[in-house]
Amino acid sequence: MPLVTSKEMFKKAYEGGYAIGAFNVNNMEIVQGITEAAKEVNAPLILQVSAGARKYAKHIYLMKLIEAAVEDTGLPICVHLDHGEDFEICKACIDGGFTSVMIDGSKHPFEENIRLTKQVVDYAHSKGVVVEGELGRLAGIEDAVNVADKDAAFTDPGQVEEFVSRTGVDSLAIAIGTSHGAYKFKGEPKLRFDILEEIQRRMPGYPIVLHGASSVIPEFVDMINQYGGQMPGARGVPEEMLRKAASMAVCKINIDSDLRLAMTATIRKHFAEKPGDFDPRQYLGPARTAIKELVKNKLVNVLGCSGKA
Ligand code: G3H
Ligand code: 13P
Ligand code: ZN
Repeated sequence: MPLVTSKEMFKKAYEGGYAIGAFNVNNMEIVQGITEAAKEVNAPLILQVSAGARKYAKHIYLMKLIEAAVEDTGLPICVHLDHGEDFEICKACIDGGFTSVMIDGSKHPFEENIRLTKQVVDYAHSKGVVVEGELGRLAGIEDAVNVADKDAAFTDPGQVEEFVSRTGVDSLAIAIGTSHGAYKFKGEPKLRFDILEEIQRRMPGYPIVLHGASSVIPEFVDMINQYGGQMPGARGVPEEMLRKAASMAVCKINIDSDLRLAMTATIRKHFAEKPGDFDPRQYLGPARTAIKELVKNKLVNVLGCSGKA
């Protein structure tokens, strides 16, 4: 099977009340860990590449690794640009074989976000590629909680229909209280499901994307702390909330930090126990296995997309 777009995946996910996992990839072990997990449970996949990942590994290496995974697993896999910040990077990824791109215009004023997103949509659609946009400001939410209008960074449901109809964007990332990284909540985790519900009411059938959706699995944080790391207070999105989002309009759930934590915890433990090892396969192998087990658990028990490939 060749690389696919997320169009069909999202349609089935919306109707079936589950979500597709969108996992960030940076190297071979991460690609293999994720795709071996998906193969075992027969799940469709989105593998996403950030600007930083493209810089670290080079576009062509990641593309070839993903093509190898498609050939090796036979799974429907969509290759997606994560957080494209301008037209140029989106164009480079479209021209370079990606089947989906995100144009993240969320830091711009509404009209500029529309202009930029539409520019990318027009080009992408002419090449058969799909586009994810963003409304609301995810990363600023923790800061915004401390200022007078704490809702300022959340997505305004009143803007969604206009944004989607004027840009033609295929899916939309929204801000309902998640954030990137391993420190998502200072107190009790809380997401604005009322905003998600209102968007779904206004735009039934339209696929929504949830960024910053790592659960920051305590087992790995504890391991990191136990083996010389320092991550006090790390906290993610409870799995129960992700299940709820997946049963609603959320069709794509973005996970990166959990992969990083699994990999780092496993490598830290390895060197604590075997300080003399210096063959990268001895520590990257177990890290790849940890990613595989983590992803399998997400696909089966959290996202609900196993058996849907
Ligand atoms: O949303 C951000 C992703 O976790 C990618 O992070 O830009 O460090 O590759 P990165
Ligand atoms: P996490 O940092 O929660 O894994 O979020 C990843 C993400 O949203 C990538 O776009
Ligand atoms: Zn993100």
